[in-house]
Parts: sequence; C-alpha cells; structure tokens
Amino acid sequence: MLDRYAVIGHPIAHSKSPLIHGLFAQVTGQAMTYEAIDGGADEGGFARALAAFRAAGGKGMNVTLPFKLQALVGATQASDDARLAGAANALRFDGDRIEARNFDGIGLVRDIEVNLGVPLAGKRVLLLGAGGATRGAVLPIARAGAARIVIANRTAAKAQELARELSPHLGGVPLAGGGFDALAGESPFDVVINATSASLGGEAPAVPPAAFAPGVLAYDMVYGKGLTPFLKLAQQAAGAARVADGVGMLVEQAAEAFAWWRGVRPDTREALTRLTVPLV
Ligand code: ATR
Repeated sequence: MLDRYAVIGHPIAHSKSPLIHGLFAQVTGQAMTYEAIDGGADEGGFARALAAFRAAGGKGMNVTLPFKLQALVGATQASDDARLAGAANALRFDGDRIEARNFDGIGLVRDIEVNLGVPLAGKRVLLLGAGGATRGAVLPIARAGAARIVIANRTAAKAQELARELSPHLGGVPLAGGGFDALAGESPFDVVINATSASLGGEAPAVPPAAFAPGVLAYDMVYGKGLTPFLKLAQQAAGAARVADGVGMLVEQAAEAFAWWRGVRPDTREALTRLTVPLV
C-alpha cells in the first residue's frame, strides 16, 4: 500500500495542499497519496478523523484552520516553532508518537530569502497584526538574524503582550510591540509583512507611509488576491517597493513538511509557477 498523507481542516475544499504535494511527489518520484479530509464542525470531529487516519496507516498530516491549536494540544512531541506559535500545521505519526511542527514561519523566511532573494540578516522587520500568523513568524525571522523586529497592531495591547511573551526566546534579537501610531518613533523598515486579515476584507492596515524604507520588500501573507490594498499602499509610500504575496510561503511550508516526512526536499518551482497569480 502507498504511504498516505492528508490535509485536515474545515472547510477544506479550497485547499491547495493536495495539488502542491501531488506535484512534489511527482518531481521527487515518491510513491505516496495525499488527500483532503474535512474534520467537520462538531466538537471531537478533528480527534476522530485524526484517530481514523492513523488507524488506517496514515503517516502524516497537514493541519489548517480551525484545527491548528488542537493539533498541537493532541501531539506527544512538539518543536519550539510549534510551541511558540501556539499551533501546529504539520504532524508526523510514528507508532504511538504524534510529532507536531509549525512550518509557516520557516516557509515565509525561505520564500523571502531564497525565492525573493532578500536576506533577513541585519534587516529591520515590521510585522503587521498580532494574531496567529504573526506569532508563527517571529521566531524564524529572529533566527534568520534580523536586526530588530517590531509588531504593530490595531489593538496595541495585543502586540505589546505578544512581544513580551516572545522576547525571551529570540536569542537577543530586539522585539517591540505596539499600535500603528507607535511606529512614528521608529526608523523605516526594510521588510514590512502584512500578517493581518485586513486584505481579506479589501482593506489595508493603517501603517504610516514613513514606515517603509526606500527599496522596501512589502509582503502580504494572503495569496491569489493580486495587488492587495496593503501592497498598493507600500508602492505609493516607497516608490521602489518590491511587492510579494503569500503564495511562496504556502508552497515553501509545504516543501518543509514534505522534506520532514519523506527525507527529500522537492524543487518548488513547478508548484510556484502553477499557483502564482500576477500582482496587478
Ligand atoms: P491570524 O491567526 O490569521 O493571525 P487572528 O488571530 O484572527 O488571525 O488575527 C487577525 C489579525 O488581523 C489581528 O491582529 C487583527 O487586529 P486586532 O487584534 O486589532 O483585531 C488584524 N486585523 C483584522 N482586520 C484588520 C483591519 N481591517 N485592519 C488592521 N488590522 C486588522
């Protein structure tokens, strides 16, 4: 029987993971299957689906909304990335063990550094939003050697709280958190990442134009939405802004999970080409 993998979420029909992992299996010549499982809306649905998949011999799973927290809680082992993110997006099953990882932040860093060619070492990085997406990104950005990380959020207290919680784990990389107005006291940033859900509602977070350094990389974590209001704002604020959406983050986090499961890192170019929507 072929090794089985899956993505679990609710809803799940929109997930690109089966397409991405199908391409990875092709390009690496790995004999495996990858399916989408709907964990349902009722309490206990996730745990039941997980148990059934493991009992049927499943080897690993990607986890998406709304089960990322449950996936971490139910694991027998978790990486620092998953623990600090407070969420798991990949599981690996080995006998009685359920290992949890979170590759979202690592995928983001890999996309920025490798695909977009912007090394984060020594850079000033601004993260907009103080939810799960920011929480998962901070540690990998610090590990990449950023000079300073600032979290700015509509609700200032949430950003302050998150910065306080994560600061001790960043190996000395300075981290601050506050409202958008607190950015007035900061020098401009080399990389500005929109980790809010504002783009989904057709809005841009209220980041002041002075926060964008000339030649800034503006990165929106949403994907497939073209030039979002945030990316437009960045282009207006800094004439020579480079803009990117989150398609590369999606593909690279999948590649990390694939490599963890199969021991071979897939070439991501074909998946990136297939999923990229022009930023216009
Ligand atoms: P996720 O897990 O995807 O990060 P979340 O935990 O719901 O999602 O967090 C959403 C983030 O987007 C929050 O930081 C939220 O700001 P608040 O904490 O002030 O609610 C932010 N957000 C959502 N809509 C926004 C908007 N229109 N402008 C600015 N920030 C917005």
